[in-house]
Amino acid sequence: MNPTAYAPIDRLGRRFADLRISVTDRCNFRCPYCMPKEIFGPGYEFLPRTAILSFEEIVRLAGIFGRMGLRKLRLTGGEPTVRAELPTLVRMLREALPDVDLALTTNGSRLASLSEELKAAGLDRVTVSLDSVDPEICREMNGVDFPPERVLEGIDAAAAAGLGPIKINAVVKRGVNDDGIVDMARHFRGTGQIVRFIEYMDVGATNGWKLDEVVPAREIIERLEQVEGLEPVEAAYLGEVARRWRWSDGSGEIGVITSVTEPFCGDCTRARLSAEGSLYTCLFASVGNDLRGPMREGATDEELLERIAGIWTVREDRYSELRAAMTDDLPIRDRVEMSHIGG
Ligand code: GTP
Ligand code: 5AD
Ligand code: SF4
Ligand code: SF4
Repeated sequence: MNPTAYAPIDRLGRRFADLRISVTDRCNFRCPYCMPKEIFGPGYEFLPRTAILSFEEIVRLAGIFGRMGLRKLRLTGGEPTVRAELPTLVRMLREALPDVDLALTTNGSRLASLSEELKAAGLDRVTVSLDSVDPEICREMNGVDFPPERVLEGIDAAAAAGLGPIKINAVVKRGVNDDGIVDMARHFRGTGQIVRFIEYMDVGATNGWKLDEVVPAREIIERLEQVEGLEPVEAAYLGEVARRWRWSDGSGEIGVITSVTEPFCGDCTRARLSAEGSLYTCLFASVGNDLRGPMREGATDEELLERIAGIWTVREDRYSELRAAMTDDLPIRDRVEMSHIGG
């Protein structure tokens, strides 16, 4: 069998290459830009267990994407490590897709205890979200008073287990953590770990996003140049999300993710599968395409492959570009929450 039986191209000429699978819509943090407490409080209804794909179902779908040119598989959430037995899923995925780049995006809270097991199961690398190394700001930005020291311990454990190169994702919000950008960069300089500063995005419909809270990547770079000169680095692969920069003195690399000021829809090769098996072809989509229904009703692999390839073929998403082209904010339709499709 040809391992890449299908290489569908969407309406804007983009192929499929990256799949992000959300394994749970729950999280032990309440970052206000993602899961504000007021909305995601005790009464919030998360997906019931029966709605969520089983490990077998996830692996079956991932295998089908594997036949469409899948290059990178990233597990996300919510917070993926709150899903029970996550290393078992990693092991099953690794067996099904031995050659794929298998990564995990996590808030780092459980990495101190899980890193070795994840590595042994076949995980290649982790990306850890950490918005500040200042204890007070960090505790505020994760919404649950979680100390950055424990995230840093998690990062160290992941590095020791061989889950590198580790990337650190920091969402930058003006007036909240932008004054800590330089400290963040200094903290990780020379460690081999790569901090990526993310422009705060208008994703979801609950975070009350405002354009003036976004710190443009250009400004982030200017602030960092006060530490040391920066030189641009070529993208590692077509469709790379982060713009890469290296410190002129050779002490490592940083990145900026410019979804607001310089959108990168033109080479977007990403698809997202929600925890309940809906396929989203854009981070800003309002509706997904149900794959769980047909799968549970007995569709064959070939039928699922046809369905997925068909969804990709008609894709014409380029939300960030459209937003950038407008002078006013786009109306917030019923956009899916970041915690539902994993960012
Ligand atoms: P690498 O494999 O290490 O290159 O990872 P990555 O940069 O593809 O993945 P990561 O999950 O770390 O992405 C970083 C952040 O960029 C995400 O958390 C999102 O905030 C943002 N991002 C990722 N993909 C997209 C996208 O398709 N569109 C937009 N607008 N933002 C994205
Ligand atoms: N804007 C930018 N990045 C966000 N993330 C979550 N919500 C937002 C937002 N509104 C990031 C998290 C994490 C990744 C999954 O997405 O910090 O790194
Ligand atoms: Fe949880 Fe990550 Fe969202 Fe923060 S950004 S609430 S850690 S899923
Ligand atoms: Fe891809 Fe949508 Fe993000 Fe554009 S806005 S890069 S199409 S996910």
